[in-house]
Amino acid sequence: MAVRKNQEALTSGEKRSFVNALLEFKRSSGYDEFVRMHIEFIIADTDFGDRFGHRAPSFLPWHRWFLILFERRLQELDSSVALPYWDWAADRTAAAPLWNAGFLGGNGRDRDAQVMTGPFAYSAGQWPITVSTDSRPYLQREFGAGGGRLPTHTDVRSVLAMPTYDMPPWNSASEGFRNHLEGWRGVNLHNRVHMWIGGQMATGASPNDPVFWLHHSYLDKLWAEWQREHPASSYLPVDSTPNVAALHDVMRPWDDITPAAVLDHTRFYTYDRPA
Ligand code: CU
Ligand code: CU
Repeated sequence: MAVRKNQEALTSGEKRSFVNALLEFKRSSGYDEFVRMHIEFIIADTDFGDRFGHRAPSFLPWHRWFLILFERRLQELDSSVALPYWDWAADRTAAAPLWNAGFLGGNGRDRDAQVMTGPFAYSAGQWPITVSTDSRPYLQREFGAGGGRLPTHTDVRSVLAMPTYDMPPWNSASEGFRNHLEGWRGVNLHNRVHMWIGGQMATGASPNDPVFWLHHSYLDKLWAEWQREHPASSYLPVDSTPNVAALHDVMRPWDDITPAAVLDHTRFYTYDRPA
């Protein structure tokens, strides 16, 4: 069973294996299918229509399954690989080793936000952006350009303390753990990190930046921690509700995956530290 580790604990060999699997998957065009699917759902997920990936209770189980499918594809290329996670509350500067040239590469340059270092720099020739929301072919990042800051551990704790998973109207206006974590109101953990990185990460084409997987892996871990801290709380809604996936409803685009089917992540992988 795969063990997902904090990226700062990976050996250089583990980092190399993860990067090589990403590059190989990108060459096969399989990678871009995940980008395309994410764009489709960002566009389709609206506050008052059918919504599965975002602005909805199934934000967490939908991305959990999206990551599992992606991780399995990488494991077909290298069975030793698992998705690492990035604790952005701890490793919160542009100088963090995460952004070294030997791993994800660094911030974009001033002129056009183009990433110039590491394996995903356009100039390295292995990471052309081919499925996106604009025509620029290079990976972009603009750390902190939106003026925001990465969430702190205090922010994380305040969201984990929320006892109710989600509540009506089950969209970006909801109170509760899911929406404060997703970030449409209040504390905002998830959206804020996308915006802090900028470039493709600030758009629906965010999986073009490999840090997408590390960011969502950490959110997934936070969900597991919330479950452990609130054993009496469950996924909501339990009963059939218009436009959203209740506990036993399938999540599009899949025809057999319900939130209930993925509530226990230990059926699929574990984390290196509690929860
Ligand atoms: Cu998403
Ligand atoms: Cu996201």
